[in-house]
Amino acid sequence: MVILITGITSGFGRAMAKRLSEQGHKVYGTHRKDVDPLPGVVYIKAEVSDENQVKAAVGQVIQAEGRIDVFINNAGMGIGGPLEFCSLEDASRQMDVNWMGMVRFLHYVLPQMRSQKSGKIICFSSIGGLIGLPFQGLYSASKYAIEGYCEALRLEVQDFGIKVVVIEPGDFATNFTAQRKSVQGSEEVRQAYPCYERSLRGIEKDENGGLKPEYLASKMCSIVAKKNPRYRYIIASPLQKLAVAAKTLLPRRLFYWILSLYYNL
Ligand SMILES: NC(=O)c1ccc[n+]([C@@H]2O[C@H](COP(=O)([O-])OP(=O)(O)OC[C@H]3O[C@@H](n4cnc5c(N)ncnc54)[C@H](OP(=O)(O)O)[C@@H]3O)[C@@H](O)[C@H]2O)c1
Repeated sequence: MVILITGITSGFGRAMAKRLSEQGHKVYGTHRKDVDPLPGVVYIKAEVSDENQVKAAVGQVIQAEGRIDVFINNAGMGIGGPLEFCSLEDASRQMDVNWMGMVRFLHYVLPQMRSQKSGKIICFSSIGGLIGLPFQGLYSASKYAIEGYCEALRLEVQDFGIKVVVIEPGDFATNFTAQRKSVQGSEEVRQAYPCYERSLRGIEKDENGGLKPEYLASKMCSIVAKKNPRYRYIIASPLQKLAVAAKTLLPRRLFYWILSLYYNL
């Protein structure tokens, strides 16, 4: 299969590109940084917030292969901090990369898949796209936007032989934590939100001690191979899967009380 993955320099993207290419798929991946290339994988430079680069990246795959069987929207980053202290530029950048980045790619991928009457679109949301996470509100908002878009898209393209899948990972140890841009704890922030720094330390600890991206990559191989994949895959520790279930099962007040305790609020 011809597979295009965004953001393959590290984390999930690199692990998925490696596994899928080893399985014999023709893998194209986008990157910004130059990294040690994976054998057999074709690297294409693309900043997801630059429409011309996105258009050229999709065009390069179509020109070389005449088709795109699987598109995996993986590239993303997080901006953290108390929402009151996140700048408007940060809010805009968070949506521009995580949500509009996906929209830009799909703008060019969808016509190709519709004309070939087949395709799989696999988009990375997060458990943060199912639960609004404190001090990661901008990030959660970007992932909720992906959820809403994909839920609608799935219905719109079902008659064209295109499947839409959303992946909701829990905590994984990738570069995501180190790359997160966080509001710095100035005296004003510390006084207004005294729980912010200890909550952030807890979040980082969970992520750094999380599952390995190779685990998700092996799940991805089976999702790519399925003729009829499910719409949603939560790939997370049992505790995090329980948290998602608890949101629907528990009374809301109880759920948010537990969430507050968990995040040291
Ligand atoms: N790790 C987790 O616990 C976790 C949990 C839930 C969901 N996710 C989601 O999983 C996806 C992959 O994250 P990861 O954990 O693998 O993190 P990662 O190791 O930091 O990888 C992120 C990838 O996205 C690329 N990227 C970021 N901003 C970009 C931009 N503006 N333009 C082009 N490429 C960009 C990065 O490229 P550069 O190297 O050039 O920056 C990198 O290749 C993200 O959508 C993230 O939200 C992660």
